[in-house]
Amino acid sequence: MPAILEFQKVSKSYRVKKRDIPALTDIDLSVVAGEVFGVIGHSGAGKSTLIRLINLLERPSGGRVLIDGEDVTRLDDAGLRALRQRVGMIFQHFNLLSAKTVADNIAFPLRIAGRLSDADIQKRVAELIERVGLTEHTHKYPAQLSGGQKQRVGIARALATKPQILLCDEATSALDPQTTQSVLRLLDEINRELHLTIVLITHEMNVIRMLCDRVAVLDNGHIVEFGQVADVFLHPQHPTSRRFVYESEDIDEDALGAAFSHVSGKIIRLTFRDEATYEPVLGRVTRQCDVDFSILTGRIDRIKNTPYGQLVLGLSDRDNGRNISEALRRFREEGLTVEEID
Ligand SMILES: Nc1ncnc2c1ncn2[C@@H]1O[C@H](COP(=O)(O)OP(=O)(O)OP(=O)(O)O)[C@@H](O)[C@H]1O
Ligand SMILES: [Mg+2]
Repeated sequence: MPAILEFQKVSKSYRVKKRDIPALTDIDLSVVAGEVFGVIGHSGAGKSTLIRLINLLERPSGGRVLIDGEDVTRLDDAGLRALRQRVGMIFQHFNLLSAKTVADNIAFPLRIAGRLSDADIQKRVAELIERVGLTEHTHKYPAQLSGGQKQRVGIARALATKPQILLCDEATSALDPQTTQSVLRLLDEINRELHLTIVLITHEMNVIRMLCDRVAVLDNGHIVEFGQVADVFLHPQHPTSRRFVYESEDIDEDALGAAFSHVSGKIIRLTFRDEATYEPVLGRVTRQCDVDFSILTGRIDRIKNTPYGQLVLGLSDRDNGRNISEALRRFREEGLTVEEID
């Protein structure tokens, strides 16, 4: 798959009181056309800096940012204007023009681009308003809209020039959980139906889990973990990634370890994905191997469109662990992931 967006050894530092303070160091990443790519990090990790380098709201201090193979830092003014039409952006606080109606906010980038007639602009705006579900709000002003409706205007405005890439900077962080869900569903629909590449940054693992295909974990200006969302979510390697996952699941990592220390027998974490989630593997294997199990903790949910289950089990047998070893072998043979915890 060709990369639509690539960072090659990108660094960015800000000059503060005659000193260069690094915000991003040696960032390498590549985003594939049509995917939803997420970047997660705590406050100050460098997320906004990273996303603003893509449309040159910031310039890199070192390295290259390529869109469709073209180094964006070499663009002249005309090239930069064209780039901004290929890369749309939505913001945490919507950034709408308060003196303009919904329709005029959405028409704004089209008027600036100056390529369409008034009639064509009106037609395009009506299409966009329908796509984001705001038809009855066409002539309202931003102050008359809810947060979720304002973000829908932001999305329609960002789509107006038919960009290839949509950048989302904490686009749902100002919204309540239910509104967040509906805006994420809209972004998912746009990604699938328009084959639009989405790059989003967030500090919420649940946003990543619901919408993204791949994720990079940003910590203090460095990418510390990177991969398919299901892999990072189910098997986080770096302490920062683990903290994001456990926070989102309301799991207290320390308490978890302490709770298991009282359990006799072998403790394992078993992960099922896709169809395996619905297969009665656990019952079958433990019965065949004559192993008893107790479920210590578990979660069953979806990552984007993939169902998964993850159970922590205490296993015991009457054969000094030989039956347990056989059970673990069969779990793996059935395609489950087995991690031995103690
Ligand atoms: N214009 C600027 N001038 C100087 N320092 C800056 C500037 N913008 C960002 N920084 C610094 O760069 C680092 C990364 O900031 P950035 O805004 O990218 O973080 P973030 O991950 O988006 O944080 P948040 O989640 O709070 O929005 C921080 O230490 C910040 O103080
Ligand atoms: Mg930010």
